[in-house]
Amino acid sequence: MKEQLIKLEQEVLQELEKASRKELNELRVKVFGKNGLITNLSKGMRDVPSENRKEIGQLINQTRSLLEEAFAKKEQEIENAELEKSLESEKIDITEPSKDIKIGALHPTSDIIDKLTDICVDMGFSVVEGPEIETDYYNFEAMNIPKNHPSRDMQDTFFITDEILLRSQTSAVQAREMEVRKPPFKIVCPGKTYRNDSDATHSPVFHQLEGLVVDENISMADLKAMLSTLMKRLYGEDTYIRFRPSFFPFTEPSIEVDLSCPTCHGKGCNICKGTGMLELLGAGVVNPKVLEMSGIDSKKYRGFAFGFGLDRAGMLLNGISNIRSLFKNDIRFLQQMKGEKK
Ligand code: DAH
Repeated sequence: MKEQLIKLEQEVLQELEKASRKELNELRVKVFGKNGLITNLSKGMRDVPSENRKEIGQLINQTRSLLEEAFAKKEQEIENAELEKSLESEKIDITEPSKDIKIGALHPTSDIIDKLTDICVDMGFSVVEGPEIETDYYNFEAMNIPKNHPSRDMQDTFFITDEILLRSQTSAVQAREMEVRKPPFKIVCPGKTYRNDSDATHSPVFHQLEGLVVDENISMADLKAMLSTLMKRLYGEDTYIRFRPSFFPFTEPSIEVDLSCPTCHGKGCNICKGTGMLELLGAGVVNPKVLEMSGIDSKKYRGFAFGFGLDRAGMLLNGISNIRSLFKNDIRFLQQMKGEKK
C-alpha cells in the first residue's frame, strides 16, 4: 500500500508538471473525483486489516494534502502565466494617434433657452417651469380668456378633455406663480407649447419663454428698458426694438415687439423681407383683472409680461429658415450647429 501511494504520488506530480489548464482539470477529476484514485484508495480502507488501518489512513491523508497543495500551486502558476500573456498582448501603445473623437453640439433651442435664461437670471429673474398638460382654467380663463370667448380663436390647441389640454402658451404659468408668490417678484418660464398650426415657420410643438414682473409702480418704460437690454445682450449691442400696439386679453395695453434684423442690422435683407425689422414677441402691462383673479391687489401692484417664440429666436440667431430642421434630427444640420456662436 505504501509503495502504491508513493507511485501514485510520483505519477501525478509528473503529469501535473507539464499540464495545461484543461489537463489540470482532467487530472483533478482523475485523482480527487468520485471514482478518483485517492477516493478509491480511501474506499479501499474497508479491506485493510484493523491493526494497519490507522497508519494507512494517515498515509492516504498525507498524500491527499500533498497533492492538493501541488494542484493549488500549479493552478496559481497557470493563472500567472495567463495574466502575463494577456498583459503582454493588451499592451497600450500610447504613441499611437487617437481616433477622431466626435463632439456633439447643443440643439439650437436648448442653446437659446440657456442664453436667454442666463441673461434673465443676471437681471434678477427666477426660472420656473409649469406643466405641459394644463387645465383650461390656467391656460385660458385665468388669462382673461373666458369659455366661448372669441379671443380663444387666436390659439387652437389640443384638448384631452373639455377641461384638460396641451398648453397653448407658457402664459399659463403666470396665474400658477401669482397664486403662490408674494409681490414683488420676477419670473421667467421656458418650455414646450402646442397649437394646431403647421407650415414652414409653425410647428404643432414649439417653445416659448414667458416673463412676468409684479411690483409697485411698474410701467411700460420698465418693460422697454428690460427688453431692450435683453435683446442687445442676445443679438449684439447694435440691436434695437420697436413697440407696436396690439391686443392680448391678459395685458392692457398690449404690444407687439419688433427687433432690428440680426442678419442685416436693420438695412433690409431677405430674412426680414426688406423691412429691416422682425416680429419677435408679445408683451404688455398685466391686465388688473388677471392680477385680481390670482389674488393680487391690483390697486397696490402692477406688472408687465412678455412671451417669446423661442424656436423663432433660435432660428434668427443661427440663420435657420425652416422650423422643421429643428425637429428632423438630421445629423448634417446638427453638425452645422457646432462652433463659436454669437
Ligand atoms: N401668450 C402669447 C402668445 O402665445 C404671447 C404673450 C403676449 C405673452 C403678451 C405675454 C404677453 O406674457 O404679455 O401669443
